[in-house]
This record gives sequence, structure tokens and C-alpha cells, in this order.
Amino acid sequence: MKELLNKQSVLILLGTGGVGKTTVAAALGLAAADAGLDTALITIDPSRRLRDALGLRKPGLRPNKLSRARLAAAGLTPAAQLSAVMLDVRAMWDDLVEHLNGARAVRQRILANSFYRRFTEQFPGAETYAALEQLYRLHQDRLFDTLIVDTPPAAHALEFLDAPERLTRLLRTRGVHWLFKPPMAAAGLAARFAGRAARLVAEQLERFAGLAALSQAADFFSTAAQMIGELEERFDRVNRLLHAPCTKFILVTTAEPQRLAHARRLIEELKARRLRLGAIVINRFADERTCSALAEGCTQNPLHLREIASLRELIFEPPLLTAGMRALVEYLDDYREQVQERMAEIARFARDLPSEVNLALAPESPSKVNNLRGLFDMAGRLTAKHGRRL
Ligand SMILES: Nc1ncnc2c1ncn2[C@@H]1O[C@H](COP(=O)(O)OP(=O)(O)O)[C@@H](O)[C@H]1O
Ligand SMILES: [Mg+2]
Repeated sequence: MKELLNKQSVLILLGTGGVGKTTVAAALGLAAADAGLDTALITIDPSRRLRDALGLRKPGLRPNKLSRARLAAAGLTPAAQLSAVMLDVRAMWDDLVEHLNGARAVRQRILANSFYRRFTEQFPGAETYAALEQLYRLHQDRLFDTLIVDTPPAAHALEFLDAPERLTRLLRTRGVHWLFKPPMAAAGLAARFAGRAARLVAEQLERFAGLAALSQAADFFSTAAQMIGELEERFDRVNRLLHAPCTKFILVTTAEPQRLAHARRLIEELKARRLRLGAIVINRFADERTCSALAEGCTQNPLHLREIASLRELIFEPPLLTAGMRALVEYLDDYREQVQERMAEIARFARDLPSEVNLALAPESPSKVNNLRGLFDMAGRLTAKHGRRL
């Protein structure tokens, strides 16, 4: 994983909700900062405690620097530089519109449009695109060495990859243009809905706008049409950054069979889109000792698990054997079995990965992941040199 932390590198976290993307993004931010890279972290909807740990008071457009004293107190090198920002979807979209080249009146008309407002709040992909837009800007500014981006909680991973293209498609949808070609008289609306294609588009729009808002939608699309070229160009540039050699995706998953199967599919989807997978993080994997054993190449039966097995023999003789003892040993033994199954599964998963993809493990450690010191500890695990010996 260490080799992914470079000057000009862009890391994008992917994975289903709740697997630990936001947490891992923060840990990687600390790792990059500690490696001497001036790092910016774009975080989305972090838990309150993580927000406090990163010194994030409210969402914004500009990353704020964490104090060096706090970073040093967490164990980072005194030279470490880390800035963090919490995504502000609405402000990001408004800022994008305000910076378009069109006439001021046109921009104002878009900003005041209620359909536009609902679009930025509810259209699947609007939140994701805002994150990418922020990434693109920071990349353009070249103020930071390394950029790390989290994924919105609700976003399906594929939605993230496809957001710029989907927006372009939305702007280009023939139905949309045909339906909302200005001038749009309210009376003409019903007639236009008669066609099947139009109904389809209307249905889609209705999902997040409501029929009553269709005249606003019409107004939005006819206004946006004046800036369509510029918007398309923008979405295209953001899409190109996703595909640039400096951009690597970090896939976060947990070790449950279903989640691993999903991760495998995501790897295929990335490949199909010619996007670069840099690493896979298996988060919340068992306990610290199991993680270390697996990371060091012990895939079968590490010492501490063998110890559990021998406990059984040790105490399964009277007078030590009480009902409580028996229950305890059985509990531990079940745990051992479950962990061994998972270890074997991870080892199989690792064997199927392309050789250039890093694999990192982070244990379940609830008390740690919400403070800088604990996150830095996780960072150490993520960047430890082991990976492919599994
Ligand atoms: N390694 C871990 N050990 C224990 N708890 C974790 C770990 N990683 C994440 N968590 C917790 O799991 C929850 C979800 O994590 P989060 O990073 O917000 O996931 P996501 O961004 O993928 O939705 C949070 O409460 C977080 O503190
Ligand atoms: Mg999250």
C-alpha cells in the first residue's frame, strides 16, 4: 500500500455502506501525511467522533489544516501536513453553477429553480458527482501532493464510477430535450406525455421531482440547455481524472462471504471500465493477533488459535470442568473455528487477485477508530509491508 502514497496520487475509496470507507480514508490520510506528503482528505458524512478527531466543524468547500501539534500527539512525524474537508453537496453544486461562463441571469435562474434544488439533493449521483467535482478542483489547484476521497454513504459503488457519464447522458437524453424544448407551455405538457418515450422520461423525473414540479423541470432543462456544452466538458474532464494513471481505487470490504463476492464483482467492474484498482482493504477482520498472523503469512492455524484448542484438553478434566468453564471453552472454540474459516477464505480471495493489487487487513477495534492515535495505528497496519505473502 505504501507505494500508492505518492506525489500527485489520487486515492478513491470504494465499497458498500458500513464497511469502513470513511474510517479507512481517514487512516490513509494520516499514513500519507506521515510519509511526508501534503495531503488533503475529502470526507463525506463522517461520524461525530471522527469529525471531532479531524477537527471538522461543518461542511465546506476548502480543506482545513489539522494542527501539527495534534498530529504529533497522535504519533505522526512533526513535519506531517494533513488537511480535511467535509463535503458540502449543495454548496459544491451552487459553486459549479456560479462559475459557469453563461450569462449571470441564466446562472441565477438555475440557482433559483426548485427542480435544480431537488436534483442536487435527491438525484442519484448528485452527491457523488459533488465529491468528484471537489476532487477535480483540488487536483487542478495542485496545492496538495496527495488527495484521498471518501464515497457517499448511500452511493452504490458503481454509481460512483459512472456519475459523470450518467450526468452527461441525462443532459443528452433525447426525451429530455424533446420534452423540454422551450418554450414550454403548460397546456402542451399533457400532450407530450402521450408518447411512450416521453412517459418514460417523465416517470424518471417524477421519482425525484414530483409531477407538480415538472414545469420547473422544464424550465431547468431549457435553461441548462444554454450551458450544456460547458457542463458536458466539465463532466468529461472529471471522468478523465477518474481514468488518469495517477488515480487509484481502494476497495474496502469486510470478510463475510457475501461481501467478498461483491468485492470480486466490483473488481471486474473496475476492469471493464479500465479503472485502476490499487488495493483492497479487508476491514474489521477478527482480532489484532489473527490479523497479524494472517498478514505474516500464517493462513491456517496461528499460535493463539492453537492455544484455544489446547485449552479444551487442559480443563476438560474434573475438578476444573464446571458448566461455566465448559460453556466458555465452547464459545472460544466456536470463535476459533469461525476465524479459521474466514482465514482460509481470505487466503483464497488473495490468491485470485491480480498480482499488482495490494491487500491489507485491519482488525475489529471499535475503541480506536474514532481518534487520531487509533486511526494512525490502523494506518500502520494498512501500509505494513506484507500483503501478498498471504
Ligand atoms: N476496524 C474497525 N473496527 C471497529 N469499528 C470500525 C472499524 N472500521 C469502521 N468501524 C466503525 O464502523 C462504522 C462504519 O464505519 P464507516 O467508516 O463510517 O463506514 P462507511 O464509510 O463505509 O459507511 C463506524 O461506526 C466506524 O467507527
Ligand atoms: Mg462513510
